[in-house]
Amino acid sequence: MGIAPQPATDFSQIKSMQKATWGAGNFAVIARHTVFPGELLCEAVDLRAGQRVLDVATGSGNAALSAARRGAEAVGTDYVPELLEWGRKRAEAEQLGVVFEEGDCEGLTYPEASFDVALSLFGTMFAPNHQRCADELLRVCRPGGKIGLACWTPEGFWGQVFALQSKYFPPAPGLTPPTAWGTESHLRTLFGDRVTFTQIERRMADFRHASADHWLEFFQAYFGPMLKAFERVGDDKREQLAADLKALATEFNRATDGGLVISGEYLEVVLTKR
Ligand SMILES: C[S@@+](CC[C@H](N)C(=O)[O-])C[C@H]1O[C@@H](n2cnc3c(N)ncnc32)[C@H](O)[C@@H]1O
Repeated sequence: MGIAPQPATDFSQIKSMQKATWGAGNFAVIARHTVFPGELLCEAVDLRAGQRVLDVATGSGNAALSAARRGAEAVGTDYVPELLEWGRKRAEAEQLGVVFEEGDCEGLTYPEASFDVALSLFGTMFAPNHQRCADELLRVCRPGGKIGLACWTPEGFWGQVFALQSKYFPPAPGLTPPTAWGTESHLRTLFGDRVTFTQIERRMADFRHASADHWLEFFQAYFGPMLKAFERVGDDKREQLAADLKALATEFNRATDGGLVISGEYLEVVLTKR
């Protein structure tokens, strides 16, 4: 899954691989599971109607749509055009005027201080250069404006899935795991004293499936990073990867009366730009 380098490293090749990975499957289907965290994030930043809101690495638009539902002038940006197309369809279905634009979250094209609020829902955490993403979120946000982030924690379910996948595909040297964004210490390093930490909270997003088998089938079909992992893993290790992932899903299953309910822990953070 996504892996992140130190700022000085040129990981452009890794980034283009990651872009192809996010374009595989159909993340818009996966994103159904995280509509609720997008709604909660917009509540956490306490949006006002009429505010200019940018959703960075929007995918199919979850947080941008949540912002628009609250009357914000929302813009969603992502580097996978197919996902933006899903976002446009969703906005049309709800009669919401969200603007979706192609862009890289390590180099946003928007002017300085052009948004009241910058959001990223499980988004910037996956881009290679953590520092550049943090700097860009800060740059486009006006002084006194807010940055709202939702990031999977290292010890939560998705952090454990990514850690497991890293055993099969060891990260290139110099990379920092995406789930570092799910720790307060890393965020303090990235944003420093340019922000105040207005709110920081551990939350859960629930994933409901018929069984661990069903969870894996669903994610293998639609979740680019998992689909690509099964494509890339050698024939000799494919069954073991499936077994390890299903064992993890079973370990995190909190349903005791049938079915599978996995609560994925994430960090919800609100920063205020000084
Ligand atoms: C886990 S998905 C989350 C999508 C969306 N925010 C949501 O919660 O439904 C991660 C998203 O980050 C996007 N992404 C990753 N690296 C990016 C980059 N460097 N620039 C723009 N988008 C990026 C991917 O295309 C993908 O849509």
